[in-house]
Amino acid sequence: MFLTPRTSSTWRLAPSPRWWPVNCHSGHALVSQPNGAARDQETKRKARPSCQAVLDRFDEQYSQELGDLWESARAVLLDPGSWQYGVMLNRFSIVTGISQILQSQGFSTLLPQTRGPAVLPSGPAAVSRSKCRAGKGSLLPPGHISKWPPNDSYLQPDIKSPARDQDLESEPSPGLSRPSLQCYIHPRPLRFPSQAHRLGQLKQYFLLNAASLLPVLALKVQDGEKVLDLCSAPGGKAVAILQCATPALLCCNEPDPQRRDWLAKTLESFLSQSLTSRVIVSAQDGRSFGQSEAGTYDKVLVDSPCSNDRSWLYCGGQQGEQRLKERAGLPALQAQLLRSALSAVRPGGVVVYSTCTLSSFENFAVVETVLNDCPEAEPEDLWEEIGIPLSEHFTFRTTHPGGSQTPHNASLQPHNAPSSSYRHRLGLLVVPQPGKTWGPMFLSRIRRRK
Ligand SMILES: C[S@@+](CC[C@H](N)C(=O)[O-])C[C@H]1O[C@@H](n2cnc3c(N)ncnc32)[C@H](O)[C@@H]1O
Repeated sequence: MFLTPRTSSTWRLAPSPRWWPVNCHSGHALVSQPNGAARDQETKRKARPSCQAVLDRFDEQYSQELGDLWESARAVLLDPGSWQYGVMLNRFSIVTGISQILQSQGFSTLLPQTRGPAVLPSGPAAVSRSKCRAGKGSLLPPGHISKWPPNDSYLQPDIKSPARDQDLESEPSPGLSRPSLQCYIHPRPLRFPSQAHRLGQLKQYFLLNAASLLPVLALKVQDGEKVLDLCSAPGGKAVAILQCATPALLCCNEPDPQRRDWLAKTLESFLSQSLTSRVIVSAQDGRSFGQSEAGTYDKVLVDSPCSNDRSWLYCGGQQGEQRLKERAGLPALQAQLLRSALSAVRPGGVVVYSTCTLSSFENFAVVETVLNDCPEAEPEDLWEEIGIPLSEHFTFRTTHPGGSQTPHNASLQPHNAPSSSYRHRLGLLVVPQPGKTWGPMFLSRIRRRK
């Protein structure tokens, strides 16, 4: 797949002229001959010193915000050799047998494999097709409307097999299996070898921090919905969204040209050709969508630029200092992106805001700030839906440090509701801990009232 220009700032994925079904290599070979480059990278990362200026700042801030939890989180962040890696399977790859190999190595599934909606207990019903039609301000070109609903020929998998046909059903059908996100995790820091990019071949799996799937689970994308991934590169969450469901449209937005190239490569490596009419890449500043695409999407993911605690700790000295200077400006940008997302979503639609930092200024405080000036925005409780069922694997924290016992905007708190309920509704923070090294990751789900 490559990108063809659509407008000045959006591209549609086009079929690669050299697209052909793949002859896959054996997964056993992958396991017994780990990718040398990945191993070298790992060794370098283990040996790399942390940036003292960043560590000092984190110590000062996070010991206050997280209390005793910071000491053990700090130990994990400073020991890359202890980091665990999740293996998300790619439902568009025709290769089978990876699950068995993973299981034989001691990996197990993160999520229960159901034959219903992709993941954890599900909420509101899917948006009907008619509500997803391209309207004013839609990204769909005029010609696209006449193709709606898409002819089934759009949906043909690259290679016929009953499972893949079912996966690409455009509407949920009772009794049929729906796509389901499959991620394998290991209790120890065992890293499955990464796969090299090969022209014309889909990758079989994606290595990731398993906590980065949580915002995607919280988004609960349903088949036929219009979805915006506002800050998309390098595309891990876009790929995960498409493992969960087949949206009518997934707009992957990334303003940085180099990162957008990376995003395009990810999409090309993981997505079936049958999705080319549904996935577009856009290059706007995310803050403009609220105006240019007001009320357009069913779901918007704001996986915001943030302090990225894991990688910042390993910046070179000068780069670390520079990042710390820029850090003060992040909450304002994050709030603008979240407001833009809340305008781009239709009434009744959902926005998930996420970051990969522990910083409460970029997490709970951003959500609170935006809720305070968006009366139509309502935070949703993720504790029962995600926190409780997944607490075996992740260490969650829901408390807003520094005065969170009393919500900033008391009107958001329902009468007689315990303050803990309000705190759960602001978001969940995944704190890396020994043996559960996933995170940092913050996620908050906000519904735009009808
Ligand atoms: C945390 S990363 C996104 C990771 C991605 N969602 C994934 O799962 O692979 C944040 C991205 O936001 C992009 N970004 C920065 N400023 C932005 C803006 N004003 N609007 C939209 N995206 C922005 C960055 O270039 C970066 O690629």
